[in-house]
Amino acid sequence: MNTIVRALGPHDLEWVIKTDQLFPHPWKENAWRNLSDAEHCFLLESDEKLVGYILFRHLAGAEDGHLLKIFLLEEMRGLGGAQKLLEASSDLLGLKEIFLEVGENNLRAQYFYNKMGFKKVHLARGFYSDGENAWIMTLIR
Ligand SMILES: CC(C)(COP(=O)(O)OP(=O)(O)OC[C@H]1O[C@@H](n2cnc3c(N)ncnc32)[C@H](O)[C@@H]1OP(=O)(O)O)[C@@H](O)C(=O)NCCC(=O)NCCS
Repeated sequence: MNTIVRALGPHDLEWVIKTDQLFPHPWKENAWRNLSDAEHCFLLESDEKLVGYILFRHLAGAEDGHLLKIFLLEEMRGLGGAQKLLEASSDLLGLKEIFLEVGENNLRAQYFYNKMGFKKVHLARGFYSDGENAWIMTLIR
């Protein structure tokens, strides 16, 4: 698979907003259009087509970052692209520590994070607006 990871540009926003509707907990369009300076989105491209995105909250100079979203188109899953997206974007931000929340029922994502070395540290009950619990997971790189 011939893939690259690059930062989000203004022309990519429509694709991300549309694709994020498939994410387990999508954001409203306005949130995407008003990303703060601390929110960093990177894209996975395969053969010049957008196939995935990752979003971090990260303060300039900090060594830690909050992984808010990672998403790959269904046909791109299981091919190693998620690992590349996570590692390349974490390197670009200089992250030494990452934390995230993942739905208790989202077994595929939990398995992926586990494979990447994340550890479960806490079960946050009723974390999501629909009442689903979330695992808080952290990775020291
Ligand atoms: C999360 C995501 C980015 C991971 O990417 P991916 O390409 O699917 O990840 P991988 O295939 O590398 O790893 C997933 C692993 O879970 C395994 N798996 C799949 N379904 C599973 C299930 N129901 N239960 C347990 N493990 C499962 C896969 O076999 C794979 O393990 P393997 O590499 O040992 O075979 C991708 O699945 C995705 O976009 N999901 C939808 C969005 C999402 O839920 N994001 C996370 C929100 S916190």
